[in-house]
Amino acid sequence: MAISQDKYDKLDEVISANKGQSGAVMRTLQAAQDIFGHVPKDVQIRIAEGLGTTLSDVYGVATFYSQFALEPRGEYIIGVCLGTACYVKGSKNVLERVCKELDTKVGKTSKDGLFTIKDTRCLGACGLAPVMMINDDVYGRLTPDKIPDILAKYRQAQ
Ligand code: FES
Repeated sequence: MAISQDKYDKLDEVISANKGQSGAVMRTLQAAQDIFGHVPKDVQIRIAEGLGTTLSDVYGVATFYSQFALEPRGEYIIGVCLGTACYVKGSKNVLERVCKELDTKVGKTSKDGLFTIKDTRCLGACGLAPVMMINDDVYGRLTPDKIPDILAKYRQAQ
């Protein structure tokens, strides 16, 4: 999908405001993520050129911090906890079922653009292990068989 010129204009404003300041790459990437929803390569190139730095510098920051998405993200972010308590209670099988149902893998977005699966560590709800979050919703004591119904709820909400 083509990104509108309007968004690039906004990005150019942010670049101008940050050029020459310390922490410019980080702040500009954060703004770019707010504007575009993710930071694709052409946006990284524009930031590098605009700030007078290298693409590898921008790419390095974008890939170091997990807050930045290099590809479009789904409306729903799914995190199946792979922390120790969840892992020993079978969260790996839950994650595999999520991947199978969505026909995608960790770090990727389903073809319908609805769901992105994120690499996730302890969510602080170990007593409910194995745990999964979908945006702000927490699901505990999961089994792989519960996954299709849970995902269906979000698909039906469309
Ligand atoms: S290990 Fe999964 S919530 Fe803590």
